[in-house]
Amino acid sequence: MFLALKSSLLLSGFYPRRPSQRRVQGMPKATQNGAAAAEPAGLQGSYVQTNLGLVGRLNEFRNLFRIWGRHATTNRIRHDLEDVRAHELEISALLGAPVAGLRLLEIGPGQQLTQLAYFGTKNDVVGIDLDVIMQRLDLRSCLRTLKQNGWLRTCKTVGRKLARIDAHARKELASQLGQAVPNLRVLQMDATKMFFPDNHFDVVFSLCTFEHLPNPAAVVSEIRRVLKPGGVMFIGLHLFTCDSGCHDLRILAGQRGDLPYWAHLRPEHERKIRPNSYVNRLRLAHWVRIFQSNMPGCRVEAVCCDTSELSRLELSKLRSQGELMDYSDDELLAYGVNAVWRKPPQDKSRRLDLQDLAKDLSET
Ligand SMILES: C[S@@+](CC[C@H](N)C(=O)[O-])C[C@H]1O[C@@H](n2cnc3c(N)ncnc32)[C@H](O)[C@@H]1O
Repeated sequence: MFLALKSSLLLSGFYPRRPSQRRVQGMPKATQNGAAAAEPAGLQGSYVQTNLGLVGRLNEFRNLFRIWGRHATTNRIRHDLEDVRAHELEISALLGAPVAGLRLLEIGPGQQLTQLAYFGTKNDVVGIDLDVIMQRLDLRSCLRTLKQNGWLRTCKTVGRKLARIDAHARKELASQLGQAVPNLRVLQMDATKMFFPDNHFDVVFSLCTFEHLPNPAAVVSEIRRVLKPGGVMFIGLHLFTCDSGCHDLRILAGQRGDLPYWAHLRPEHERKIRPNSYVNRLRLAHWVRIFQSNMPGCRVEAVCCDTSELSRLELSKLRSQGELMDYSDDELLAYGVNAVWRKPPQDKSRRLDLQDLAKDLSET
């Protein structure tokens, strides 16, 4: 009985990583008038609470285990650390200084905390997440998770802890960092309404989170507020229009079977998709607009998966049949989007609430 329970709980709630990336120059032409994104739904409890049914959920667990089980840990952490070091170089170039001794915020660090731990070895870091991030398995944390994020998130997290997947990952992370994983502060907070003061952080960082936000523009405006003048933002997100952008884990686990390529963008195949989390369905042009309208001069670039030869072949076949004509090749083949911005040194942003507004009016 215990074994059955343990094996059903053995499954991780981790999120698949982005493959190595290279840049796609410029903005794809077909996305400049990108179709409107679907109306964002609110996040209820946790971004993983999608309705998959029992069989779909069991398949999801199997695929999560393929992607995030212990056997995959070493490579996953190596890959994550390579990526975060590359992002660190970009941040450092914009800051004009090393990313060390700084105050850094990560939005949506998720269950694994690899990037937060990396930056935490040499900076004062804090993570915020809508989910309760349970760093230790104890009754209080379980009850908090259950209350805040519901049974599914709680089962996934408790399952990982019981199966010692988290403990193994932490040991591997320490070994690859070459030092103990620092104590990490992760607050349960909605990024659209941060509790931090204005002009507070030197760096704001986020990976694979913005595609899950119902209202990313509100988060962008909060980032602008909490960044210090001269501070730097780095956001990496998974692009909805790429083949895996629908977040069907069969694709990410290499188990797509006969699932057609870009099924989520092709009306006749859309119903075959089983997304495991809420995604806002925004296209590249939307991201460009959201970032650049809040952050003038923000660099927003599509980044491309370097293993896309098969996708290219599929794409040319579909194109010859007249399919996916509303999307540019780059938009379909790019895996993600990076948005990088340095807040101008003279920009002292603050949140305008009604009291501020009244004060501003009385002063003018
Ligand atoms: C896919 S995970 C990303 C995990 C991690 N950054 C990574 O790259 O592995 C997305 C995270 O964003 C969090 N999230 C979603 N909406 C949020 C919000 N409004 N405020 C803060 N965190 C949010 C989710 O709870 C989840 O942990």
